[in-house]
Amino acid sequence: MTTEKLQALLDSMTIREKVGQLVQCNAGQFIQNDMEITGPEGELLPAEDLNRVMGSVLTFEDAAQAKALQDRHLAADPKKIPLLLMLDVIHGLRTTYPIPLAMGCSFDDDLMAECADMARKESAVCGVHVTFNPMVDTARDARWGRILETSSEEPLLNSRMGAAVVRATQGEDLSRPENVACCVKHFAAYGAPEGGRDYNTVDLSERTLREAYLPAYKACLDAGARLIMPSFNALNGIPSVANRWLMNRVLREEWGFNGVVISDYNAVGELVTHGVAENLKDAVRLSMLAGCDIDMVRNAYYLYLEDLVRDGVVPEEMLDQAVLRVLKLKNELGLFENPYHGADEEAEKKLYLCPAHREIARRAAEESAVLLKNEGILPLSDRIRKAALIGPFADERHLVGFWSRPGAWKDAVTLPEGIQALLPDLELIIERGCGAEIGDTDESGIDRAVEAARSADAVILALGEPENDSGEGRSRATLTLPGPQMTLARRVLAANPNTAVILFNGRPLELTELDELAPAILEMWYPGTEAGNAAARLLFGRANPCGKLSAGLPRSVGQYPMPYNRMNTGRPKPQPDSQAFPFTSCYLDTPNLPLYSFGHGLSYTTFSYESLTLDRTVMRPEESVRVTIRVRNTGSGAGKEVVQLYLRDPVASVVRPVQQLIDYRKISLEPGEVKEVAFTVTEEQLRFWDFDCSFRSEPGTFELSTGYADHLLLTRTFVLQ
Ligand code: GLC
Repeated sequence: MTTEKLQALLDSMTIREKVGQLVQCNAGQFIQNDMEITGPEGELLPAEDLNRVMGSVLTFEDAAQAKALQDRHLAADPKKIPLLLMLDVIHGLRTTYPIPLAMGCSFDDDLMAECADMARKESAVCGVHVTFNPMVDTARDARWGRILETSSEEPLLNSRMGAAVVRATQGEDLSRPENVACCVKHFAAYGAPEGGRDYNTVDLSERTLREAYLPAYKACLDAGARLIMPSFNALNGIPSVANRWLMNRVLREEWGFNGVVISDYNAVGELVTHGVAENLKDAVRLSMLAGCDIDMVRNAYYLYLEDLVRDGVVPEEMLDQAVLRVLKLKNELGLFENPYHGADEEAEKKLYLCPAHREIARRAAEESAVLLKNEGILPLSDRIRKAALIGPFADERHLVGFWSRPGAWKDAVTLPEGIQALLPDLELIIERGCGAEIGDTDESGIDRAVEAARSADAVILALGEPENDSGEGRSRATLTLPGPQMTLARRVLAANPNTAVILFNGRPLELTELDELAPAILEMWYPGTEAGNAAARLLFGRANPCGKLSAGLPRSVGQYPMPYNRMNTGRPKPQPDSQAFPFTSCYLDTPNLPLYSFGHGLSYTTFSYESLTLDRTVMRPEESVRVTIRVRNTGSGAGKEVVQLYLRDPVASVVRPVQQLIDYRKISLEPGEVKEVAFTVTEEQLRFWDFDCSFRSEPGTFELSTGYADHLLLTRTFVLQ
């Protein structure tokens, strides 16, 4: 439809019809045939009218439902304005790849794009027009259960992963039925709740907000994301959905975003609970004036916006702008001409879980696994005849994470299935050891498990955290392995030292004691559909681990928040990071550094960093510095290494981090092979938010290092003039 026709359509609409475009309902209420709607507050709303006026729905299951929803709406809507169909596709629709926090550990933008492209294909044939993805909330506190849903604690890594997802999901032309629009979320700083407790208040300086939390949203909008979702939390005293500084000043004015803003689930209604709105009608006023276009599910706009416009409280011109943004998105998706977009039941059957998609998911699971520790145990030898597979994840299928699609876990390959497929002749003894459910306190099976360990050539100790202990509303005040898993681990590790631990979890865990006892630990996170196949290939050396931590692992939950890009303070604790040092910034009972730092990860081979050289030591602002890092594979096997480049600005008008990742690249090296990785550092990468929050660089000396956080090597300095 042309812009003129779109404007003509808008001009022809009644206020009620315009309001309808800003109403999003839960599709489930229309898929059943009971045509009575119960809103969150228990209002019974007339479904027929809602179905006639609403502009979008969320959460449906497949192409058939998508078509039925569209048909039912278009039959009732006199203006024949097609619905937008939206869905949370966070890390795969039916073929599930690893959770985003794991994908961040791959440090591989191209692999991220490949996974997102696979999810796009499956989403499109399912009938999805908009996915509520990527989620790019920087998370520096693993008590927050949604840390699994973001790529990293690191703004640059989060930005590049998020942008890769947007480009791969939206493609070049949204009107093509195979492309899907992205809604980046949750704007802003939802990942910084006080106490790590979901939905809790967020209070940050503008500098920290701009430095650590806003960049990733901006990167996704710069990559072309068409929608953005304000977050539930209050940000510096004002809930995001009503926060005019955030939504008008930053989003619309500074960043020039002219796409659609959609609230989070009932977030408009929660303004009353937050205590900034007298009642639901007041909440609608605040949300509209702040620029929230669509009210997700609360029906608050449906109930009160028309009156607010007729009473002049909300200018009709503001309503028109919001509605036009929604109509433009529908038009860009080609929905007026093709309301089904990509929905295709036949294609669903061919694409879902197809071998090509499984291969991508398996590769992603292998590349996002992190080998934390390995004292000669891994890879396990093919010569072993009998292995004991012990622990609550020994034969668990829930390996896909909180934000996988309902039922996706049933398609996951378990650890024994993967191992037996790889090594059919290997005798496997399987003992959960502690109860039927992960986290059970039942210790009655531990004796049998220990016996199994004692009798085996090798032990795979499969531990972790129940899938439902991370994700939305799943914050924890402790981060230890739930239930008697450590009791099991102590006894099994004592019974057979040839034991490798494999972990399945959705957040960084507190592994301090396990790390002291276990000779090898492989972190798998929630690897998705191909979990068992990927784990088997890693454990038996068909794949070589190459993941690097996208968030540090704590020694104690008491260390949080524990950002790797920390400030030096006036009293830094001197290294080594072992004992307390009086009157410095340290704990009496715990070292400062993480157990394993951001960017850490081992391989079955070894690498040496031979040199870091700069092509100049003085740089004018319009110039750049070329950094060359030589890396050698000094081991006996091929492997991949993530070469990381860190910056330090030791003197500036405000305190600057002791280390800040400014670039990375993943390389493959054959045994003995040497490669040179070149990075270009520009003046823009030296900028920061200074004392009056302007974004600029300052002349002075800068340090460039490689290695990984807290373990920097080969530092060289240059001067910016
Ligand atoms: C949830 C989440 C959000 C999701 C939305 C729709 O509450 O906060 O991430 O996209 O509702 O399911």
